[in-house]
Amino acid sequence: MSPSSQIKIKSKQPNLQKSIFSVMSALAISEKAINLSQGFPDFPCHPKLVELLHKYAKAGHNQYAPMPGIPVLRERIAEKVEDLYGAKYNPETEITITAGATEALYAAITTIVHPGDEVIVFEPWYDAYIPTIEYSGGRVITIPLELPDFHIDWAKVNKAVSAKTKAIILNSPHNPTGAILSAEDIEQLVAIVKNSSIMLISDEVYEHIIFDGQAHQSLAKYKELAERSFVIGSFGKTFHATGWKVGYCLAPRELMAEFQKIHQFITFSVNTPAQYAYAAFLLEKDYYLELAGFYQKKRDLFLKLMDTSRFEPLACTGTYFQLMGYKNISEENDLEFTRRLTVEHKIASIPTSVFYKAGIDNKIVRFCFAKKDETLEQAAELLCRI
Ligand SMILES: Cc1ncc(COP(=O)(O)O)c(C=O)c1O
Repeated sequence: MSPSSQIKIKSKQPNLQKSIFSVMSALAISEKAINLSQGFPDFPCHPKLVELLHKYAKAGHNQYAPMPGIPVLRERIAEKVEDLYGAKYNPETEITITAGATEALYAAITTIVHPGDEVIVFEPWYDAYIPTIEYSGGRVITIPLELPDFHIDWAKVNKAVSAKTKAIILNSPHNPTGAILSAEDIEQLVAIVKNSSIMLISDEVYEHIIFDGQAHQSLAKYKELAERSFVIGSFGKTFHATGWKVGYCLAPRELMAEFQKIHQFITFSVNTPAQYAYAAFLLEKDYYLELAGFYQKKRDLFLKLMDTSRFEPLACTGTYFQLMGYKNISEENDLEFTRRLTVEHKIASIPTSVFYKAGIDNKIVRFCFAKKDETLEQAAELLCRI
């Protein structure tokens, strides 16, 4: 159907293209390629979680949840965050359940960014941040992470901070690079924000997927950071249930009160039986505490299988993404290369240049290894032939 000739829609996001994740997943389907592009598991979530969802739906928990989320789930999150990071969040006033981390990011950014505000974002970035900052009238200040390990150059951050800096967005473990924040990074961050009004939005959706004995540096752990932060998590990533779209946000009371004003008119509340199911499932801590070991095995398997390929792996300390350089294989730009990889070699991946403002092409692609071992074996066999 075409719109009426009287209807002229003025785009609020004139330069925004369809997300690369939708593009590559659609191409993977049409090309019958193995999909190592979008970040979701091809194995089921725990059957007990599905049973719990069924149990609570059958028991009649099918009406609106309270706007901030059901109390028992907020209490369980408060307990978990205190256990892991020693942080005390009041479940009544400082925790909100959201429709995935995506909604929490949108609500946090729109809560604080006013026209003219500057927000510092590291590139390559997870692609949900920039459109929302711009939509809110904010100005994005990008700082490139330093190759080959994608660390933050704090001198560059210091230089980028101005009187207009409203917030810095952090993401650790980091998508797409697999880099993590270290204790030294935290010290640098503390030094930069102390005595300032800069707020922090910390995307920690991969908090439990961290390797080689490293500890996750949640901003919740550091009082001087937590008191100016929105800390965002996602059960989709932790419990292999990305389609349930349940996440949460932690923030000090006054920040959370403003956050909830935005949240209440995006979704109002999040699906009720899934909240009950997660509240019960969170009691069994092993499910999330063993996640790092589970994914480290997958990372190591994928790297071993790729040993004889001409791709060059970069360090991956967290998340379920492995970056690989392809300079030895092709001089094509990464958009052409990933397209050809999907069409000709039947493996879908993600180009990384799309996560840079200036489209910097480092000839690096991202593979998702949250896949069954058989999927990784089949994919590596095809990749090793290239
Ligand atoms: C870094 C990062 N943040 C947020 C999200 C969105 O999480 P959710 O599916 O819970 O909305 C993703 C999903 O891929 C992600 O990788």
